[in-house]
Amino acid sequence: MHLSRRRLLYGSAGVAAVAAAGCSTGEKSAALTGFTGISMPTQTSDRWVFEGGVLEQQLKDAGYETILEYGDDDPEKQIKQIRGMIDRGVEFLIIGAIDNRSLGEVLATAKDQDVTIISYDRLILDTPDVDYYASFDNYEVGVLQAKHILDQLGADEPGAGPFNIELFSGSPDDSNSQYFFQGGLDTLERYTYSGTIQIPSEQTEQEPTSTLRWSGAIAMERMTELLEEYYSDGERRLHAVLAPYDGISRGVIYALEDFGLEPGTEEFPVVTGQDAEAISVQFIRDGQGQSQTVFKDTRDLAAVASGMVKSIVGGDKPQINDLGTYYNGFKFVPAYLLEPVSIDKDNWEEELVDSEYLTIEQVDEAEEPQEF
Ligand code: BGC
Repeated sequence: MHLSRRRLLYGSAGVAAVAAAGCSTGEKSAALTGFTGISMPTQTSDRWVFEGGVLEQQLKDAGYETILEYGDDDPEKQIKQIRGMIDRGVEFLIIGAIDNRSLGEVLATAKDQDVTIISYDRLILDTPDVDYYASFDNYEVGVLQAKHILDQLGADEPGAGPFNIELFSGSPDDSNSQYFFQGGLDTLERYTYSGTIQIPSEQTEQEPTSTLRWSGAIAMERMTELLEEYYSDGERRLHAVLAPYDGISRGVIYALEDFGLEPGTEEFPVVTGQDAEAISVQFIRDGQGQSQTVFKDTRDLAAVASGMVKSIVGGDKPQINDLGTYYNGFKFVPAYLLEPVSIDKDNWEEELVDSEYLTIEQVDEAEEPQEF
């Protein structure tokens, strides 16, 4: 547990109530039509496919023209697509980055043409050309995942443990990964310090635990290696896995199954997740390995980002609620952050189905979107 939260988060992590802030948009708004390029990172995860559509709809409903493209987890492809959008004259870019450090050059070109750049969900780093950030409290995501593990293990009960857990973090080129991971580490720290929780692999840093491009297959491979190396003597049991995203969680679960553990039994470790992907919700409902996910209502996130565009077109400044948390190497990017919600077998229906985020049919009929 070596990274300090302060170093990581640069400032207050709280969602401070901050008045509108940002660029001077008033003068140029008269000429704006709202033409927006939406650049999403991947189609192998439900959330991004869904959000692309929602963003497009929200902007079209406001009467704006849009271009929606998916970078398919290929940073070069995303840069080309963004370049194409700039050439076609977009006034706004909403970008869910693939590699958060690779966009400096193309965004400089966008800025030359006065494009307003909204970093969507993932903070774009190492460039002064990001105007706004729309996201969730990413640190809290990791806190919720770790709390679920502690809860399920009964780690606060007298004499509890020692429990063995292993940690996974997300893609190293996505700045969100460190926030999720740090939230998890900080929450577990007291328990690892007291010995209630042990991490037999001793892999507690971001680098060895990372999962390039959030790939479930890569996570499955690493979980298999960990099981062989640290859990194959038949004596040591694995009690939980901190997994940051549903696709990674399922890779972990498939590796655990291949190792001979049966989902739904006492021996199966607690596995966390994020994004409320339909198939993971099915697993949670049916007790099939994953027991938690973190729901980030991406309809609200899309509304924040499209609302930023609408405000600027209307001659106003976008609404912001955080000015001091997300430093991108050049500046604290004015942000609007939403709150994530922990989902388990007790509240999935209320939070996801009653709110019409998912239908029961989608959960019933969900199929694995990734290749394993
Ligand atoms: C998002 C998560 C998502 C992950 C993988 C992150 O940047 O914040 O919601 O699970 O990417 O797509």
